Amino acid sequence: MTKKNIIIAIDGYSSCGKSTVAKALANKLHYVYVDSGAMYRAVTLYFLRNNIDFNSEKQIRQALENIHIDFHKEQGATRVLLNDEDVSDEIRQMPVSENVSAVSAIKEVRSAMVKQQQKMGARKNVVMDGRDIGTAVFPHAQIKIFMTADPKIRAERRYLELKNKGENITLEEVFENIAHRDYQDTTRKESPLVRADDAIILDNTDMTEEEQLRFVLEKVEEANS
Ligand code: DC
Repeated sequence: MTKKNIIIAIDGYSSCGKSTVAKALANKLHYVYVDSGAMYRAVTLYFLRNNIDFNSEKQIRQALENIHIDFHKEQGATRVLLNDEDVSDEIRQMPVSENVSAVSAIKEVRSAMVKQQQKMGARKNVVMDGRDIGTAVFPHAQIKIFMTADPKIRAERRYLELKNKGENITLEEVFENIAHRDYQDTTRKESPLVRADDAIILDNTDMTEEEQLRFVLEKVEEANS
């Protein structure tokens, strides 16, 4: 009998550390890590570079046919490739952050990304983070985590991260971007961010990275026992 592949779905609000937990978990369990947000960011970057009109279904469809997204590992870190170009750094910058909610709300974009994500989890043990992984991409995932944290703490964490990368930005701007994305992610028509009924809540406002990882590992052990 072939063993079924295991999917761990981690969903939640922007900047609450989903990727930190997901990466640590994937490393520990030797699973593949897929950052689904990076895929929406790569599509956004392509749309911006090619002046795609977000309201033109025709332009969007054509653009999606020309977009190929891949992940590859380099010195332990996962890099994102857009048509073979490493865009890992550029997709984290403000122009993409400011437009990604609008792009990820487009139906055609979502269905193209969901298809690719389902393929990525078809035969492997995977940890995937995003907004709709436990609800739309893998509704039958064995483990679902829904992450949240105080918006002020999230903004402070992201602000420090961007500052360390040399970005010229204020804490207020980061806070506003996060609040805006929370609003868009939870109120959009297509697959809004919502906790799956069977997802375990992880609020990491007062938790360290080690505590979060321990919390999730315990849940994985419980699910497997
Ligand atoms: O996780 P992130 O901040 O890098 O995600 C970027 C944007 O992509 C976020 O504003 C919402 C969207 N997203 C989504 O709609 N569905 C996903 N599965 C992952 C991200």
